[in-house]
Amino acid sequence: MNVTNVTNDIYQLSVNVEDILFEGLWEIPNGVSLNSYIIKGEKTAIVDGVCGWDGVPESLFALLDKLNIAPESIEYLIINHMEPDHSGWIEDFKKINSNFKVVCSKKSAELLEAFYGHTENIIHVTDKDTLDLGKGHILKFVEIPNVHWPDTIATFDTLTGTLFSCDAFGSFGRATSSNYDDMLSKEEIDFYEKEAVRYYSNIVAAFSMPVKKAIQKCSDLPIKIVAPGHGIVWRKNPNKIIEDYSRYASYQKGPAQEEITIIWGSMYGMTEKAVQHAIDVLEKEKIKVHVHRVPETSWGTILASAWTSTGIILAMPTYEYKMFPPLAAVLEELGKKKVQNRKAFRFGSYGWSGGAQKELDEIISKYCMNWDFLEPVEFKGRPEPKDLELITEKLRTLVGEVRELTNE
Ligand SMILES: Cc1cc2nc3c(=O)[nH]c(=O)nc-3n(C[C@H](O)[C@H](O)[C@H](O)COP(=O)(O)O)c2cc1C
Ligand SMILES: [Fe+2]
Ligand SMILES: [Fe+2]
Repeated sequence: MNVTNVTNDIYQLSVNVEDILFEGLWEIPNGVSLNSYIIKGEKTAIVDGVCGWDGVPESLFALLDKLNIAPESIEYLIINHMEPDHSGWIEDFKKINSNFKVVCSKKSAELLEAFYGHTENIIHVTDKDTLDLGKGHILKFVEIPNVHWPDTIATFDTLTGTLFSCDAFGSFGRATSSNYDDMLSKEEIDFYEKEAVRYYSNIVAAFSMPVKKAIQKCSDLPIKIVAPGHGIVWRKNPNKIIEDYSRYASYQKGPAQEEITIIWGSMYGMTEKAVQHAIDVLEKEKIKVHVHRVPETSWGTILASAWTSTGIILAMPTYEYKMFPPLAAVLEELGKKKVQNRKAFRFGSYGWSGGAQKELDEIISKYCMNWDFLEPVEFKGRPEPKDLELITEKLRTLVGEVRELTNE
């Protein structure tokens, strides 16, 4: 639980959440912060709420107490996005403060009614609206629908150039009291960059087109600080996270980075022998490789490396005339997140008839993934030297293709 000063009259309240699956699904090995912001003009506004899975709003009230702000004195509750990780505390807040106004999009208002039955004192805002808090803090609103829900807006403080961007420009990773890019070492920034990729690929990836539009829209604003709803605040170099997000959005349709992700599964070690061989070959080729075994590795981890990889290798045996099931499940998820236009290669073992390849083709086609596959290498039982030689040849071709695309 931290309270920190962002800039003049603006404070961040943040709470870390750990040991849960985010959205009930995504593993967060390094936790995630839920960030809320207080803007103290002549009137006080709170942007998004610190809420989550750890018994807040008690945490929020304790943080407000540290700032000597009585919850009753908060006049505006700005809801950039109604998802309960940001607004789940409103019902408790109402018990303490009955006089606040909610500032949100029309869509958020509909959701507020549906989720919490809250209908009173709502000010709907659009791109055209501003809100004057006094002391020069005139807030402007920017509709950025579908980053991440259809209701999303960003709030911009024109005095300080602070963009409260909610899920946009967010990252996983627990917050410390140094939750600002200017207070972090290069290694720490690298850590949050990895957490941003993980957050982007798991939470925002499917909405990459809306992300691009949002970035375009925000480019008209004189942004000095990016203050997201999760992760660190970008005060020294706000453009870094905006440019990173722009790149992440472009990875959806590829090409991504000069990297290859191997996703593999094996029951009795036959496919595994060929995977081991493939790792050795790729090591000699000196290309960055991520290797994930299923079902042991979580979807979130696999998705994060598939998102940044231009090349993907799928290795799995046939199982009951189809693909090894956990690989099919992961591939479906990559399809839903629209991991498209990858250079790809598949190999694997079978016993008598095969069948994995057929299901693989079906999934790729069902989600319009448009992966460009090299001819697959399938072997009966264990891989013979001739199979491994063929795999070597295909891998070299794949590396060449990935390099060509990413060095254009
Ligand atoms: C539960 C189970 C189901 C299988 N179903 C098929 C099948 O439908 N068609 C086929 O050709 N082989 C099938 N096989 C055989 C495997 O594909 C074969 O044993 C292969 O070598 C396993 O590779 P692995 O050691 O990498 O798991 C099946 C094996 C198991 C254990
Ligand atoms: Fe969200
Ligand atoms: Fe969120």
